[in-house]
Amino acid sequence: MSKLGIYGENTDVAHIAGSDGWPLVGNTFKYLLNTYGFGKAMRQTYGEVYRSRAFFLRFIVLSSPDGIEYVLRDEAQNFSSKLGWEPFLARLFPNALPTMDFEEHRFHRKIMQSVFRHAAMQSYAGLINDVVIEDVEKWREQGVVKVYPGIKAIMLDIAAKAFLGIDLKKDAEFINQTFITINNGLAPIIPSPLPGTAIWKALRARQTLFDYFRPMIKQRKASDGKDIFTRLCQAKDEEGAEFSEQAILDHLVNVLSAAHDTSTTSLTIAMYYLAKHPEWQERLRAVSNGLPEGAVDYSSLEMLEEHEWVFKEALRIYPPAPQLFRRSINACEFKGYKIPANTQVMVDVGYTHRSAEYWSNPMDFDPERFSADRAEHKRHKYQWAPFGGGAHICIGMQFAMMAAKITLHHLLKRYKFELDCDENVDFTILPITQPKNGLPVRVIPLMLQE
Ligand code: HEM
Repeated sequence: MSKLGIYGENTDVAHIAGSDGWPLVGNTFKYLLNTYGFGKAMRQTYGEVYRSRAFFLRFIVLSSPDGIEYVLRDEAQNFSSKLGWEPFLARLFPNALPTMDFEEHRFHRKIMQSVFRHAAMQSYAGLINDVVIEDVEKWREQGVVKVYPGIKAIMLDIAAKAFLGIDLKKDAEFINQTFITINNGLAPIIPSPLPGTAIWKALRARQTLFDYFRPMIKQRKASDGKDIFTRLCQAKDEEGAEFSEQAILDHLVNVLSAAHDTSTTSLTIAMYYLAKHPEWQERLRAVSNGLPEGAVDYSSLEMLEEHEWVFKEALRIYPPAPQLFRRSINACEFKGYKIPANTQVMVDVGYTHRSAEYWSNPMDFDPERFSADRAEHKRHKYQWAPFGGGAHICIGMQFAMMAAKITLHHLLKRYKFELDCDENVDFTILPITQPKNGLPVRVIPLMLQE
């Protein structure tokens, strides 16, 4: 019988070359301090598949587009997302999409998908425009803005209007703090909810949100609101199945958590590169100025193609989720490497996004690589995977793209941006990518072009 780790995973992976790191903590600090550098060093030393140990887990890493495809597409149903994410998410989100597998996942995802249908997306576009137009005006008089908290505030207002259908002004600080506390519990140093630990605080914060939203459900079931919460309360699949009250709360809190930091991070990174590359600001601004004043409607979003390249390029260089986890449920084999059953597997999206094997000059900010002419990202279906792939591919991908394009559009129409700090900004990568200095930029107001 194989030896099990503290999360019940198989630890018998010595047949695969790699590094176990220091006693007890393994490579945890190497991942935390130098996520990309360590992933690259491991890949260069051991190749496409290697073993590692960190976050109290023993795991095998697959570090290539083929590896990402093998695990995420998972044609043979060898991998469990539920078990793979268990160490990070099970306590906080035991009944959400990432912690469900196969039939149960399909059932919930189908109901959930109705919340992101075309007609729903059109109404979210309207809500997002309203929020962003109001919020970006607050940057006008500030001179220097710290982009990370600035974008976070906009994303929180979007969450309030488009996700929850409430005016958060009164409760904004409370909700914001509650989310910070929940997300701090996602990559815990101490993996058990002992009083005072990050997980313990996160579980209490989650309960606070449940108590806050639960009394609203009955009214939402009969309301004509256009927000995600209302739609979740009314969502049905084709057979008419709907969510229980607890399932609504579980999905709502998980969706908010999945959306908030990822969107904030990726837009902050896009703003960082735009501030460093005024020529790209000019390019996007010229397109934005060509659109009518006011809200960008859903059908005009396709005009913002170059905004999308910039956002995709930001997601390539700094994917908010650079490492994704699964657990094998069957013994299987990838390119001759045997993966025993019950083994924790990590796919290194972050390495692949920056590898010269798949991208030309990967560390250059070069949004045109996403243009139809160059289409570098299409060399392999899984070389650009910031939203994952397969059955668990991000359900909010289109929503995130839309929110990013609308936000960049309104910001660039109104302002020029220059970095107000050294251009080599230091970023924390795990658990959430963010600039250590908050990313201060000078905001230079422009005349709005009619
Ligand atoms: C730039 C922003 C975002 C990024 C980079 C991102 C990234 C991801 C990734 C990588 C996954 C797959 C995880 C896996 O396979 O294990 C995922 C799943 C998910 N995302 Fe996103 N996400 C973003 C925005 C959003 C938004 C805006 C929403 C909601 C409106 C959302 C909701 C979800 C949900 C519910 C899942 C779980 C899907 C499932 O398991 O079936 N995400 N996201």
